Amino acid sequence: MKIVCAEHCGFCYGVKRAVDLALETREEKAEPVFSLGPLIHNPQVVEQLDSRGIKVVDDVAEISSGAIIIRSHGVGPDVYDAAAAKGIEVIDATCPHVRRAQTAAREFAAAGYTVVVVGERDHPEVRSIVAWCRPQEVYVVRTKDEAVAIPHVPRLGVVAQTTFSSEQFDAIAEVLAHRGDVVKVAKTVCTATELRQAAAASLASKVDAMVVVGGRNSANTSRLAEICRTVNKKVFHIETVKDLNHEWFGGVSKVGITAGASTPDWIIKEVCNALEELEERLAQDTQDTMSYEPGTLLKGKVVGVKKTEVFVDIGGKGEGVVPLAELAYPVPLSADEVVQEGQEIDVIVLKSGSEDGDIILSKVRAERQLAWERLEEARDQKQPVPARIIEPTKGGLVAAVFGLRGFVPASQADLHYVEDLGQFTGQELMVLPIEIDRNKNRVVLSRRAVLEAERQKREAEIYASLAPGQQVTGTVRRLASFGAFIDIGGVEGLAHISDLAWHKVKSPAEVLAVGDTVSAVVLKVDPEAKRISLSLKQAQPDPWLDGVSEFSEGMTVRGRITHLAKFGAFVELKPGIEGLVHVSELADRRVSTPQEVVSPGQEVAVKILGIDKGKKRISLSIAQAREDAERAEYQSYMNRQEDPGASSTIGDRIGHLLKKE
Ligand code: F3S
Repeated sequence: MKIVCAEHCGFCYGVKRAVDLALETREEKAEPVFSLGPLIHNPQVVEQLDSRGIKVVDDVAEISSGAIIIRSHGVGPDVYDAAAAKGIEVIDATCPHVRRAQTAAREFAAAGYTVVVVGERDHPEVRSIVAWCRPQEVYVVRTKDEAVAIPHVPRLGVVAQTTFSSEQFDAIAEVLAHRGDVVKVAKTVCTATELRQAAAASLASKVDAMVVVGGRNSANTSRLAEICRTVNKKVFHIETVKDLNHEWFGGVSKVGITAGASTPDWIIKEVCNALEELEERLAQDTQDTMSYEPGTLLKGKVVGVKKTEVFVDIGGKGEGVVPLAELAYPVPLSADEVVQEGQEIDVIVLKSGSEDGDIILSKVRAERQLAWERLEEARDQKQPVPARIIEPTKGGLVAAVFGLRGFVPASQADLHYVEDLGQFTGQELMVLPIEIDRNKNRVVLSRRAVLEAERQKREAEIYASLAPGQQVTGTVRRLASFGAFIDIGGVEGLAHISDLAWHKVKSPAEVLAVGDTVSAVVLKVDPEAKRISLSLKQAQPDPWLDGVSEFSEGMTVRGRITHLAKFGAFVELKPGIEGLVHVSELADRRVSTPQEVVSPGQEVAVKILGIDKGKKRISLSIAQAREDAERAEYQSYMNRQEDPGASSTIGDRIGHLLKKE
């Protein structure tokens, strides 16, 4: 018997917090400590707390001093007032989720809404929620019928008892949506409850019997049992290990355990231990009382091998015989082709007492039965198994899996359509059993599911390993008008057309072809949306930076005006390198529009005022270039004046003409 515990079960956050708070308070305080009502819905825990001196009282009026613990269900404002009036310290262990429900209901009431609490009318938590709404009118409903019976009101506010079934709440809320002109819903169902309920339902659907552990007075435990009963006929609600009845587990091979939110770990552990002991005892009993009934599966040791039969020690009653025909399929010529003495083998009892008293066993049928079980388990656990492809057949592949005949439909042979299925013949492939029917002798396998799972795993790993700025290598898979899809080792990223090259690209086909290997830089990774943005241009040196390296601030160069804007003129210094002459730098006088002084296509001298490599901007000035040129010309003139050998006077130039005259 296999024992499986539900993924989420036992103490929830709110209950654990309440118990911890109670024990801490008991440790810290010398004065008496009380719990207002049983701290949790578990008599064993309440007993333990009592033995530590935390007594249960039903009303603040019963005590005159000390501290009182408000349990996780919460209480109404009257209790806080009563405690304050008597000077009794309140240790508030109200679960934060319950507090949320109380607050939502109180706010609805304060805003003039008629409040509906979906839950159990007499549950302490529901009573506490109702108390926070007074004097506003409050209804408590637990079924759709009760919800329908509520009178139509102008404004309706709906909250939930935290431990109420999420699904049922939704169904009731849907009905209530029509019971008011304005309906507001606060779904205050606690996720701890939802998780426990989902885990319990899932486990109950997979096991032969389900044990639900928790106080009989615990609403959430009873609800868990109720939920389990919808999917499993053998559900047992117990409070402690003492309630376990071994007779319940006859013929049960898998038992599940879940526990309510108020069940402490030690009680769950005790139940698990008891079931484990029971499992051992049952196994022992089975061994002891094994009658070798036909159909019993056994493990045995080969103690003798003849040509036509094999003798197997099966413990207990001694030996059994495996006839040659029951040894393997196809039937071997001699038994020693299949087994050797000392080998341990699986066998199934065919006859428990033949005429000569022999127990007749079958190895081949035992293996078949085990094969079915292994396949079923693999299907349930979604665990791939190896299969040998025998041959292609109509619509798919015939495969041998654990000695059984399986079928891989053509659509499940690969991730994509495969033209020639014969290529798989003789190969051993990992496949997932997707359909198994022992009665119809049907095993349907999927290789595609395995490949798909691998692809997803690989994809997740790649997404996890990628980060913006990272350089990657990939292969161009597809080109679209807006960019290129690049495979970077199992996932595809998109390089937008503007990120393909540093120069303007009109169509991706101008710079790329399918199959090209390219380097790219990761711009953005979004694993949820499965999107990766890539840039090919960032993986290449920036030609602008290269081109601009020959220029420096203060230089005067010649360029051609490419176009004009309101704020200035753009000047191309060399192909791909352009700068801006601001309107204020176009001339040494005030210019209203660039058109007044320059025009596109015109060649001009510009002075480089600044180069911003980060923003790829160059600021230029025509006015300063001109001023510099004039200054240089003037300087040159002045220099010539000062150096007669290097210059000429008017007399030098026209003196000979005057002499002639
Ligand atoms: Fe609180 Fe949810 Fe537990 S409401 S008491 S955490 S079940």
